Amino acid sequence: MKQIQTAAELTSAVSAARESGKEIGLVPTMGALHEGHLSLIERAMQENDLVVVSLFVNPIQFNNKEDLEKYPRTIEADLELIKNLELRIKNSCTDNLLAFTPTVAEMYPDGMPTEVYRFGPVEEVMEGPRRPGHFSGVAVVVRRLFDLSQPTRAYFGEKDYQQIAVIRALLTQIKYPIELVPCPIVRADDGLALSSRNMRLSSAARQMAPAINATLEQAAEMAEYEDVDDVKEWVLDTLASWHEVNNCPDGLKFEPEYFEIVDAITLQPIAGWDEAAANGAVGCIAVWLDGVRLIDIVKF
Ligand code: PAF
Repeated sequence: MKQIQTAAELTSAVSAARESGKEIGLVPTMGALHEGHLSLIERAMQENDLVVVSLFVNPIQFNNKEDLEKYPRTIEADLELIKNLELRIKNSCTDNLLAFTPTVAEMYPDGMPTEVYRFGPVEEVMEGPRRPGHFSGVAVVVRRLFDLSQPTRAYFGEKDYQQIAVIRALLTQIKYPIELVPCPIVRADDGLALSSRNMRLSSAARQMAPAINATLEQAAEMAEYEDVDDVKEWVLDTLASWHEVNNCPDGLKFEPEYFEIVDAITLQPIAGWDEAAANGAVGCIAVWLDGVRLIDIVKF
């Protein structure tokens, strides 16, 4: 692995690779790496000649200042994890894996970008209205990463399900011939979707958190015989009353922000299962626990 901190170094490394016909995989991250990220990097390494992993906490995608300040920054540990992964897979460290760790000034040399992206219906649901400006901020940084690393393929985790739909829309808008590779969620043994935010949960909350996935899995079973609205209501009620039913101590409780059942590609809410016959249906949830906002999905 080679660490690169400047845009100029990155473009020169990837241009040389491109010219010699190499395929490039891009794994954009905000650092605080966990097994979920490592699974993206591993897949990218299997499918490309050169892999760029970016580690950059992008200020313009945070609509909440406190969330930006609290976002974990663990760059040294992250670089160690990448090196260990490389050793595990290849049994050697190579220059075929570039860790791009720019500063904010390096990413945005002309100051904070003011350009605004709009994606229509895919961003007008779920996270979109609750995090104004978030997806535009993601699009700005992802486009810049596309420009700098000229990838053949770009890898994104399905936990941020709506983000994938937004990147798909971005690629259509900017007409870059990049293959978008959505990758499955990696879960802890108890089912909790891995997330950099999990490290902010107290140990009692961490023990409770797998109930989110357990509830979603039960919902997938219910979908065999219940209507969409009934499944939605059951998920929201089950989580909202979980602390009462399970006699939670110290005031811990789930506070669901939304649970939507949507078409897997258009992300528009469906009223009946047959509406998603072509693309499939996905349930997307955001739920607060112990002051931490957790998201997860289930495929129906
Ligand atoms: O999913 C993330 O971690 C971020 O939104 C991304 C894609 C790296 C852009 O900052």
